[in-house]
This record gives sequence, C-alpha cells and structure tokens, in this order.
Amino acid sequence: MLRVAFCCNAKNLLTRAAFIAESGVGPRLPNGARLICKDGRHLMTTKPGARPARPYFSSGPCAKRPGWSPEKLGTETLGRSHRAKVGKSRLKEAIDRTRAVLEVPAEYRIGVVPASDTGAVEMAMWSMLGARPVTMLAWESFGEGWVTDVVKQLKLDARVMTAPYGALPDLSKVDPDTDIVFTWNGTTSGVRVPDADWIAADRKGLTICDATSAAFAQALDWAKLDVVTFSFQKALGGEGAHGVLILSPRAVERLETYKPQWPLPKIFRLTKGGKLIEGVFEGETINTPSMLVIEDWIDALQWAAAIGGLKELIRRADANFHAISQWAERTAWIDFLCADPRARSNTSVCFKIVDPAIAALDEEKQRAFVKEMETLLSKEKAAFDIGGYRDAPPGLRVWCGATVERADIEALCPWLDWAFDEAKKGAGRRA
Ligand SMILES: Cc1ncc(COP(=O)(O)O)c(C=O)c1O
Repeated sequence: MLRVAFCCNAKNLLTRAAFIAESGVGPRLPNGARLICKDGRHLMTTKPGARPARPYFSSGPCAKRPGWSPEKLGTETLGRSHRAKVGKSRLKEAIDRTRAVLEVPAEYRIGVVPASDTGAVEMAMWSMLGARPVTMLAWESFGEGWVTDVVKQLKLDARVMTAPYGALPDLSKVDPDTDIVFTWNGTTSGVRVPDADWIAADRKGLTICDATSAAFAQALDWAKLDVVTFSFQKALGGEGAHGVLILSPRAVERLETYKPQWPLPKIFRLTKGGKLIEGVFEGETINTPSMLVIEDWIDALQWAAAIGGLKELIRRADANFHAISQWAERTAWIDFLCADPRARSNTSVCFKIVDPAIAALDEEKQRAFVKEMETLLSKEKAAFDIGGYRDAPPGLRVWCGATVERADIEALCPWLDWAFDEAKKGAGRRA
C-alpha cells in the first residue's frame, strides 16, 4: 500500500495544496493510498482498486480450496447406498487419505461420525467421561459449551479452568491424572495452545481435544492426544455435516472397559457387547452420511496431498497469518485479541478495534460499528464474513487457513482500512 505523508493544518484537516506539495503524487490520490500525518497519525484511506480474487474469509464454512469446482467431484457414489461396495470403499478412502495428509499414527482409529465436530466431541465426552476426575479447559465460546455439557448435562464434578477472551488458562496447573477436555485452537478468540508440552507423556487420564480449527493448519502432537475431533468445513474448506473422530489405543481401551451410568443414544454408541465397533473406523458409518460431502472431502484431501501435504498446509496458513500480522502491526486502529504472540492462531485470526473513539463506545455501538464495516466490505465484494463471533468481544475475525491465498489476505488489508475509515465517518455523523 502506498503511504503518503503530508502536513495537516491546525484542525487536522487535509489541505490539497499541502498534500500535492508534500507527497508529489499529484492532485489525484491513488487507489488504496493511506494518508498519514508526518507524525505518523492515520488520517484516511482511499478506496482500494484491487479486490481479493476470492473474498472468502469466513471461519467456517471456510473458503473452498483454490481451483475448486463442483464438476471436479466424483459422482459414482451418488444415488447409491453408502453400504454398497462403492460407497464403503469411498468412505474408507476418505479415512485413509485423512490419515495420510494429517499424518495420524497407524495405531489411531479414524471414524466419520454424525453431527459435525459437535457430534464427535459429544460422542467422546458422553462415552468416555465419568471414569475418573475431569479437568475442563475453556477460553472461548466452544470450550465453554463443552464445560456446560459436562457440568450441567453429565453433572460431573469437573475442575473447570477458564480464561477470558484473548488469554489461556494456566496450563502448568493441569493435573495429568485427570481426563482433560480442551480446544486446541479457540476459533472465537483466536487463541491456541502453542504446543502440548503441558500434557504429561505418562498421564493417567485421557486427553479429549477439539481440534476443528487447528487440524491441517497447526502441528498436533499425537503422542499427547487420545481423542481428536474436527469437521470437514474448516481448514480444508470441505462441507458441513459430518465430524471426524480420531481415537488413540488408550481411548479405545477406555471405551471397551468403561460403561457410563447415563444412557447413550444410538448415534453416540461406539461399542457393542463391550467391544469397539471397528466398522465405524472402516467406513461403515453409524447412520447415512452425505456421499456428496465425502466426495468433496476426498477432493480437498487430493488437493492437500498434491501441494505437499501437512507441511505445506501449515506453511500456507503461517504465511497468511504473517501477511495479516504485518498489516496489523503497522495499523494503529487494530490489535490482536490474543495478547501472547505464541498463542495467536494462524487460522481464526481475531482482532479488537483499539482506536480510542471506537473503543470508548458501549458494546452495542461497537457491535454496530463492526456490522457496518462488514456490510461495506460485503457490498463491495471485498470480504465476506469477517465479523467476530457473536459471543466474543466486538471485533474482526479473518480466516487465514491454507485454502486462503496469501495474495487475497494482502489485498484485503487496505479494504479493512478503508472500511474502518468509512464506518468511522458514519459513526461520527450519527454521534
Ligand atoms: C472450536 C470449535 N468447536 C466446535 C465447533 C462446532 O463445529 P461444528 O459446527 O462442526 O459442529 C466450532 C465451530 O466453529 C469450533 O470452532
């Protein structure tokens, strides 16, 4: 972006003559120019010229992979039984390709289950918890949802460790003898665990990890994880519907040796007669899956493998995050919601607006301000779905996972500046 520095008069208004004299760019401002005072204060951004080629920055469903088209999806399984040979083999292929791209250890089971990531997490919690004390970790909306279910529905006397939006609980205080439920990447706060070093290798409890916005973008430490869940529509831009449930041998052992006191509905049942239903992990789903969703998932995995697998997926997400971070660092009106740079998500990147005039507004007005920015960007087809989550503090959230192109993140940044200035002018008029 062109940064044009020039003098302001006493009222901090632009004078055209001063601008022409100082900037040397002539009387017409180029698109996307950022006007700043000589002392570095931001004044305004002109409307950018170029738009992101794919203005899709939603945190779920996330952008489809570059080059995606419905014509590229397999159709052989459509209109056929998912239990026919062709259906089962495609489900098995989806599982095998998931293992290869995500680098899941051979001894871990992978199953496609109902009800998206929520289904997979609930299945694990309802089937496995209650055998020993539980620690629940939460630092944003989804983690809080798992706490509610364990404490209010399962009525377990869990130790609940929480942190406000933007922070992590003190992970060094987690008791490794307990079962631990946590979210690897908090999608609604943009805070992730930097690693799994805080989980003991010789733990007695199980770790149940909701990794839906981390898988395929962040390195998961399999040796420390017993249950991992995610859904297709996140980091590889698949479609919503099903969850993926990944189980370590220790998790399987728990399923085969422990029977919870509460009833389990059919769609949660993973054992029969005290034995794991192995078919679920071979493509025999509990109930009917969407074969179109499975075909789309296979397409996403083929793309991921072709570009270089997990390493390249992580590199792409990191590069996107780096691009938006560089912008955030030079932009006075915005800051990361996550204070600790090590814990900042490279997928669901969350920001708060720190411009003093906007930060001083009450919460409702701040939300209206963000909505205004969203509407402006959406009307311009410059960015869709970049508002923060409804339960999070007012702010912006930009998905930076591997299906997003770095060039689109770079093209987005001047649009964010422009939308901020436009919304601020509007807020000024309304005040
Ligand atoms: C961390 C986390 N957990 C769970 C969910 C719920 O996912 P799903 O809609 O796939 O059930 C989401 C959705 O964004 C999420 O971000």
